[in-house]
Amino acid sequence: MAKVTFFSGQQLPLEMHKVRIIQKLNLLPIEERRRAISEAGYNTFLLNNSDVFLDMLTDSGVNAMSDQQQAAMLIADDAYAGSATYTRLYNKLVEIFGMTYFLPAHQGRAAEHILSRSLVKPGTYVPMNYHFTTSKAHVTAMGGEVLELITPAGLEVTSTNRFKGNFDVAALERLIADKGADAIAYVRVEAGTNLIGGQPLSLANFRQTTEVCHKHGILAVLDASLLADNLHFIKTAEPGCEDLSIPEITKAIADCFDIIYFSARKLGFGRGGGICIRDESLYRQMRGLVPMFEGFLTYGGMSVREMEAITVGLDETMDEDMINQGPQFIEHMVSELDARGIPVITPAGGLGAHLDAKRFLPHIPQPHYPAGALASALYIASGVRGMERGTLSEQRDADGVEPLANMELVRLALPRRVFTLSQVNYAIDRIAWLFSHRDLIGGLQFVEEPEILRFFYGRLEPIGDWVDQLVARFRDELGESL
Ligand code: F0G
Repeated sequence: MAKVTFFSGQQLPLEMHKVRIIQKLNLLPIEERRRAISEAGYNTFLLNNSDVFLDMLTDSGVNAMSDQQQAAMLIADDAYAGSATYTRLYNKLVEIFGMTYFLPAHQGRAAEHILSRSLVKPGTYVPMNYHFTTSKAHVTAMGGEVLELITPAGLEVTSTNRFKGNFDVAALERLIADKGADAIAYVRVEAGTNLIGGQPLSLANFRQTTEVCHKHGILAVLDASLLADNLHFIKTAEPGCEDLSIPEITKAIADCFDIIYFSARKLGFGRGGGICIRDESLYRQMRGLVPMFEGFLTYGGMSVREMEAITVGLDETMDEDMINQGPQFIEHMVSELDARGIPVITPAGGLGAHLDAKRFLPHIPQPHYPAGALASALYIASGVRGMERGTLSEQRDADGVEPLANMELVRLALPRRVFTLSQVNYAIDRIAWLFSHRDLIGGLQFVEEPEILRFFYGRLEPIGDWVDQLVARFRDELGESL
């Protein structure tokens, strides 16, 4: 995205692409939205997409593709084994990350499955800057324990610290001194830390963290799913990195790690995933799991068409104009919300804008899921679908105790190149309406609580009649308006 100065003095993101295929959207009347969320058990994951106006649930697998990606899909080489498509993907990964070995997988969590099954033994620890839901589920399923070593700044909701995703290197050193290097299965570093608001790490921090790992012979593993946004922030905000190209920054990060895995539903704007590995013996250790759980070694559960799209998508990720759109739209959304006094995570990160439900709804206690309630209220008021990223997204401890999340967030993901600025402005308008009536919103309670990854398909109900009141107020003030 070019840096353009508007004559008007306005600061607006300007797209460096044009839209050539569109999908018609549906904005249901509020009564129908209320019916839809009730049928979905007040869980936005269970809404039908046809009932959603702006789908800000996630960017996973729903980023817009480029014409070049679509074109590449037509030349996919359909072969079970040894397809030329796989070779193109492999070569692109070697070019950008410089690692010799690659194991394909059908998506990011499949890569996590293979990694944890190979490396996590019962009683071992996996320190990380912050957990992601699926990465934690796989580590704990193998009997390992996740330890979060984010710097204190990462948990400050409002901040001016540009690199809130940084790993607490001193805490890592203390942990190693305390438990011993052998107790650590691997160190997982998550670029663009998802659950604390898509916050990046600095290149300096990638280096410091992994230096500690190497000093103690501990494997350094990068989750690169959200790397694209992180590259943008390093390039634009880290002193000393302004003159590095995006491929140079990518390579500098990759050089720090033994293993890089990713969800290509994010990185590469396609649908798939995989694990890049530097060392042959590690590759051999993990390799057998791919044909067992994913598919043959040259597709790993991905379709050849998607592999072609990912190859081009990875190449386009090395182009600053292609990866700036997300962070710049998010910056617009966050600064407009902030200017209206609406509590949001600052500074704006990658992935999406994140409403701080703890401050938006201070009257709702955490066990009543303020972020889940806010996500439901927002859908009712706007048809915008966000995702709860708070206590609901946590898993119960082995003894059944529900841990309260550090943050109660509603994530409004902006899939890249999908929404227009007026759509983003509509979402801002409805959030502002909701904020002015926040006292009307109440909590939620479980009706049906699954044991594993409960946020995906658990069902809830409102506590009290707040939904009736909210709908009535919307009708009073916005009349027959949708
Ligand atoms: N790691 C990170 C940092 C992620 O954000 C995700 C997925 C995964 C791993 C798992 O990848 O979905 O391909 O299996 N994040 C999605 C999201 C689900 O909505 O943020 P996957």
